Amino acid sequence: MSLDLSLNKILIIDFGSQFTQLIARRIRELGFFSEITSHKKIKNKDINNKIKGIILSGGPLNVYEINKYSFDKKIIQKGIPVLGICFGHQIISKLNGGRVKQSKHREFGLANIYKKNDSLLIKNFFYKKKSMKVWMSHADQVSKLPKNFKVIASSKNSKFAIVENKTKKYYGVQFHPEVTHTDNGKRIISNFVSLICKMKRNWSYKDQKKKLILQVKNQVGSNKVICALSGGVDSSVVAQLLNKAIGNNLHCIFVNTGLLRKDEEKQVVTTFKKRLKINLTYVNAEKEFLKKLSNISDPEKKRKIIGNLFIKIFERYAKKIKNVKFLAQGTLYPDLIESRSVTGSQTSKIKSHHNVGGLPKKMKLKLVEPLKFLFKDEVRKLGLELNLSREIISRHPFPGPGLAIRMPGIITKEKIKILKEADHYFIQALRDHNLYNKIWQAYVALLPVKTVGVMGDNRTYEYLCLLRAITSEDGMTADFYEFKKSFIQDISNKIVNSIRGINRVVYDITSKPPSTIELE
Ligand code: XMP
Repeated sequence: MSLDLSLNKILIIDFGSQFTQLIARRIRELGFFSEITSHKKIKNKDINNKIKGIILSGGPLNVYEINKYSFDKKIIQKGIPVLGICFGHQIISKLNGGRVKQSKHREFGLANIYKKNDSLLIKNFFYKKKSMKVWMSHADQVSKLPKNFKVIASSKNSKFAIVENKTKKYYGVQFHPEVTHTDNGKRIISNFVSLICKMKRNWSYKDQKKKLILQVKNQVGSNKVICALSGGVDSSVVAQLLNKAIGNNLHCIFVNTGLLRKDEEKQVVTTFKKRLKINLTYVNAEKEFLKKLSNISDPEKKRKIIGNLFIKIFERYAKKIKNVKFLAQGTLYPDLIESRSVTGSQTSKIKSHHNVGGLPKKMKLKLVEPLKFLFKDEVRKLGLELNLSREIISRHPFPGPGLAIRMPGIITKEKIKILKEADHYFIQALRDHNLYNKIWQAYVALLPVKTVGVMGDNRTYEYLCLLRAITSEDGMTADFYEFKKSFIQDISNKIVNSIRGINRVVYDITSKPPSTIELE
């Protein structure tokens, strides 16, 4: 287990809550650094003087089985302030001699809590109100408080909704202050971090940029670094950060698979090579990809072929650059967190994701991952600090396999051409109507079906295309975007009238789950 030693921090010990990452985000939004570690990995010896406070997350575990999971209680007995959230609150009570039992009334969803006593933790939390709405999600609860603990707030079903032991600096909340459904929940987190842990602000994008540039310089020295640039947000920010840090020692490779959005390759070359003066090798591999994909219609086969060929081409070009010691990747914090499967359950494989970030492991290069402590929205803000245009940093996500998975069935040059045009019309219309930034991701897919239509008294027999536009927080769940009828009608007319090959447009109104965002 190695924690970052360069910054003071709030350490979040994860017990498997679905909200753990939100806790880290809230703390960083407030301007403080925080790091997540798994309860399975953290040892007493890892607790150093950079840790100004500890938060124990919620989780699906059960406090009665405390001996089954290896959590060294000395970790929270060092005088560092500790805040327990939900399950974390129950652990603090249990480890200090209190009792936890199954609640008679399980609480899931909103509940009102009422103030009983003052505490730094709730300073300005209740405003002048008698009660606040909080988000509960628990089946167990503390039934007897340990000695010297005080009740700060209660709900109808949880007498010990907020508790504290001021002398020992233990604080517990049965609800989730990190979720937006809890009114003013951020205040509780901010009070813990700044008033109780007395931490000074140490996380801003300006500082962050300087720190990361210095960090990259120190890590790679005068060695060369290669980077697979896709033109997406993460790889663009990595490339620009390295450009600022090491200039000509950065070598980016951009592979045009022929499955990109309309004119994307031109935009990437113009932005990165011409405008930002980044060392960029442009590889046109359209023909190679099309050849390998000919007559392939199975989604998983498509994904594997594209992923493998991408690596092969990348390696081929990377070898031409001499004395490369490092590979830069846009790994983000959510990719890193080790404790995702704290309950031991395996998430089933839905799709084989191909990501330019996760590339050539075989190449024996050392990794440079400057974004590995950042969340996506933080990467976007950093991108702005690095002078990347808003257009680049607010781009919708685009999958590694590109248009191949937006074209169920076999892939042909003709279909790619039609799809690129239709997608372009749709995205441009979103921009023209100021809708692009309200939508998390939007695209057109070309379905492997032809239908009959009538245009200018003539029969047509052409493809059917599908529009997808979703709102989402993180791509894990999604809902379809509700366009006005006039907008969707206009775009349908425009596509059918302007693009030869499409005579019908449908709009996908399924959410994720049960559907996924992409079609394949
Ligand atoms: P799904 O279709 O799984 O997509 O609901 C969730 C998000 O992931 C993107 N996606 C990919 N991104 N490589 C990527 O880099 C991939 O292979 C891939 N497949 C899907 C998708 O566009 C959406 O944003």
